[in-house]
Amino acid sequence: MNTMKAFQVTGFGGLDKLEYKTVELPSLEKDEVLVKIHATALNNSDIWMREGGYGTDRSSDAAAGWRREGIQFPRIPGSDIAGEIVKVGSEVEDKVLHKKVVLFPFQSSGKVGHEHMSEDIAYIGSEFDGGYAEYVIWKADLCYDAPLTNLSESAPIPVSGLTAWHMIKRANIQKGEMVLVNGATGGVGSFAVQIAANVFGAKVIALVRDQSLDKKMKELGAYKTVAYKSHQLVEDITKASDGQIDVVLDVVGDAMFSTSLAVLKKGGTFVTSGASSGVLTELDLRTLYLKHLNLLGSTLGTKEEFDDLLKAVQDGLVKPIIDKTFPLEKAKEAQSYFKESKQLGKVVLLP
Ligand SMILES: NC(=O)c1ccc[n+]([C@@H]2O[C@H](COP(=O)([O-])OP(=O)(O)OC[C@H]3O[C@@H](n4cnc5c(N)ncnc54)[C@H](OP(=O)(O)O)[C@@H]3O)[C@@H](O)[C@H]2O)c1
Repeated sequence: MNTMKAFQVTGFGGLDKLEYKTVELPSLEKDEVLVKIHATALNNSDIWMREGGYGTDRSSDAAAGWRREGIQFPRIPGSDIAGEIVKVGSEVEDKVLHKKVVLFPFQSSGKVGHEHMSEDIAYIGSEFDGGYAEYVIWKADLCYDAPLTNLSESAPIPVSGLTAWHMIKRANIQKGEMVLVNGATGGVGSFAVQIAANVFGAKVIALVRDQSLDKKMKELGAYKTVAYKSHQLVEDITKASDGQIDVVLDVVGDAMFSTSLAVLKKGGTFVTSGASSGVLTELDLRTLYLKHLNLLGSTLGTKEEFDDLLKAVQDGLVKPIIDKTFPLEKAKEAQSYFKESKQLGKVVLLP
């Protein structure tokens, strides 16, 4: 077995740059393992890395990958991966063979607790080939026991789940605090609702497109839901929370930014890790200083947090939500569906 089927991104651009090919399997380094991929969950980063959508510090329009620099093409995208170890490098013990694993999504030289902050951070599916393939090579010590027997359900945990967990740690959410989760139906948001409510004991208000999602959000642990399509959204959130929002967890970006700052109570905290509706926004600095607000940025998380998240999933406190699966060869359709549809939870590719 020297080849596999995979999608490669061959340059910045549209879906025509996502090409289905037979490619060589790279050889294993001594500390690596070969993982037969069972499931890869889609993320916006898979699409944005193809579109070059990350901008740079100097130009928000510049074509760049997640590290805000060029990507070496061809590159296999996909960073939320679950599978089975089928081959080990010379320094990896045989006993890990056939283990079902989820892949910690990046490598870095950062010290414990600061892995995600390191300048040399390099992501699977961006600086390394990723999960739109039958096999992937990864460091043995970055392969963690899958917390669920269903590997499709395990796949979204490394990126979506870890991102949500870290946002909550960044905000230092305490039991009983009132937390608004924007984009609560999305990949990160559906984890954030559950982790904030079921692990950290927060009272979560889930912001969703309409009230038909109320039952589902309450099953996930939400205290209340508010529909964002309201003409009086600030009033609706203020009423639902009695004006007591301590923290906003946001991945929506521009569309929700001024509303989020308006509904936070004095001294409240806004955490962002994404911007589905727009990356550029306006900030009235008077709101920030007169309300004593904290604005925090957050990306992915630490290995310790990943361990804690896997345990919470194992304990049944957090359950990855799968909207739809596609076979690997339908990756283009899967990306179009993910980009355009109104899913609840994650879209997953099955090689
Ligand atoms: N920094 C990191 O570590 C990290 C990791 C993962 C993701 N991200 C980023 O986080 C963002 C969300 O990722 P995701 O995987 O959760 O995406 P997703 O599954 O597509 O979810 C996006 C959510 O945002 C909502 N939304 C989009 N436009 C909106 C608008 N105009 N008003 C209100 N709500 C809106 C969506 O609601 P509807 O379905 O109703 O539109 C949905 O709930 C992306 O920008 C992604 O790149 C960052």
